[in-house]
Amino acid sequence: MARNKGIRVIETVSELQSVIREFKKKKQTIGFTPTLGALHEGHATLIQRSKKENDISVCSIFVNPTQFNEKSDLKKYPRTFEADKKILEKIGCDILFFPNEKEIYPNGSDYAIKVNLDGLDKRMEGAFRPGHFEGVVQVVYRLLEIVKAHHLYMGQKDFQQFTIIQKMIDKLKIKTKLVVCPIKREKDGLAMSSRNRRLGKTIRKNAIILNKTLKSVKLKMDSQSPEELCQFALHKLNIIDFKPEYFIIIDGYKLTPIRSFDDTEYAVACTAVWAGDVRLIDNMILKSKK
Ligand code: PAJ
Repeated sequence: MARNKGIRVIETVSELQSVIREFKKKKQTIGFTPTLGALHEGHATLIQRSKKENDISVCSIFVNPTQFNEKSDLKKYPRTFEADKKILEKIGCDILFFPNEKEIYPNGSDYAIKVNLDGLDKRMEGAFRPGHFEGVVQVVYRLLEIVKAHHLYMGQKDFQQFTIIQKMIDKLKIKTKLVVCPIKREKDGLAMSSRNRRLGKTIRKNAIILNKTLKSVKLKMDSQSPEELCQFALHKLNIIDFKPEYFIIIDGYKLTPIRSFDDTEYAVACTAVWAGDVRLIDNMILKSKK
């Protein structure tokens, strides 16, 4: 185990498991934040929340190949280990789990957990990124099996992702409790993402259109139907260099489009937009009883 200015970097499953066993013997609670690395302030909010709510905070960095449906996207994914480690040290994260592929998939990555997600994985992102959520479920299941955390921290930024992971936890009766953290945005409203650093200057400036559109939709929801609002949003997002892939207003539990705001107590607008050659996603809760 390498000790580094307060953060322990652990690369093997066996080492992490033995450390976790020690914590559990001492009745310490464990908060876990899985990431793909290239950390930014959005990730930081998750780990900070974990620090507040647990005795020990673990963050993993693993660029999971099975969730990338495009090999080129996997190759292009930023790998910034040293900078990530510094961020985690600054926050005071206790353990950085940094495994290689063999540690996560000792029997090959074909081995995957079978769980009926009630179709949640087939819509929105699932429709445009075939196999993506199978990969996410596979890796989060495996990571939870290793870390056995009390709390799992995920971001609302990936609305469909956390909804699917909640479904997996419920269906498999996993003892970990999912904690969802709000979307952290740049000052101008763009949702923070590791992909933002790939945006050219002009496209980056114009990328505020996603948040702006979501905000306008929320303002108009009392006077227009979900379908009208989706049409309006798709039109608004269609600016030079931008290509909306979808904009839908869904029931936040089932992830199915709604016809009327009276049909659900939990309405969420979700969008995916190509900004040049970078695919951005964003969402906004329009109505919730919470
Ligand atoms: P990654 O994209 O690195 O994101 C890790 C976590 O950070 C996710 O739960 C994501 O929703 C959250 N996050 C990202 N940007 C955020 C923002 N602006 N505000 C708040 N939270 C934000 O999502 C993944 O990795 C992977 O699919 C993973 C779950 C690690 C499985 O490989």
